[in-house]
Amino acid sequence: MIVVDDLHRHFGGFRAVDGATLEIAEGSITGLVGPNGAGKSTLFNVIAGVLPPTSGQVTMAGDDITGLAPHELFHRGLLRTFQIAHEFSSMTVRENLMMVPAGQTGESIWSSWTRRAAIRDEERALLRKADEVLEFLTIDHLKDEKAGNLSGGQKKLLELGRTMMVDARIVFLDEVGAGVNRTLLNTIGDAIQRLNRERGYTFCMIEHDMEFIGRLCDPVIVMAEGKVLSQGTIDEIKSDERVIEAYLGTGLKNKAAAGAG
Ligand SMILES: Nc1ncnc2c1ncn2[C@@H]1O[C@H](COP(=O)(O)OP(=O)(O)O)[C@@H](O)[C@H]1O
Ligand SMILES: [Mg+2]
Repeated sequence: MIVVDDLHRHFGGFRAVDGATLEIAEGSITGLVGPNGAGKSTLFNVIAGVLPPTSGQVTMAGDDITGLAPHELFHRGLLRTFQIAHEFSSMTVRENLMMVPAGQTGESIWSSWTRRAAIRDEERALLRKADEVLEFLTIDHLKDEKAGNLSGGQKKLLELGRTMMVDARIVFLDEVGAGVNRTLLNTIGDAIQRLNRERGYTFCMIEHDMEFIGRLCDPVIVMAEGKVLSQGTIDEIKSDERVIEAYLGTGLKNKAAAGAG
């Protein structure tokens, strides 16, 4: 579904992404791992249109999407989750979800009296959709809570929920499990798996927790120094000498043995 071909993103003389080539298969939950500073987040930002590439190409289902703006990618169903912006923290969870869909009638012709009924219908549909999303994520009891009052894990679920308000095809998740307790991490993992199986979402996720990656992701792509180092199942990459080498100092072996990331 996504093909990244010889992608570069340099910052001055520094090559954060240095010729990355990879594919994300439709219907997969692809993991992206690698030591800190490997260029994972920069790669995501280039694919998602947040940063222009220095060179290289990204295609989606055969279309060249290199350098398209985030809103253009959004319309194609390519989404990257973002932390709930500060200005939305005083809005409720449900209101945060209802903000997501672009191009609502109400935005462009807000002043038009004749379209009032249409706007009301759209709002009702949005409300239904938001409630359906909250139920799917098992956080319907939080719908009237201010987003700013949610725990770290609940915020991650809300971020995931935002991708469900539109017809997403592929979702990029950058460390969705960071700082999230086990229980909520399982809820997030279950939601990702269900979205993948039941709604056909493709995922690409950066994650440090190898147990979480191992449970959800196939294949797993390993990045180091701006390039793709290895790709395979979690077991294959864990026993790949080059991967172990790249992680030396951060101790993948120890972490893998301890079952944590
Ligand atoms: N905007 C930027 N300006 C300069 N250097 C950056 C910028 N963003 C990232 N980098 C550098 O690029 C490298 C890769 O960063 P990043 O993509 O965040 O790695 P990862 O997500 O794998 O930990 C790091 O050394 C980082 O310091
Ligand atoms: Mg990162």
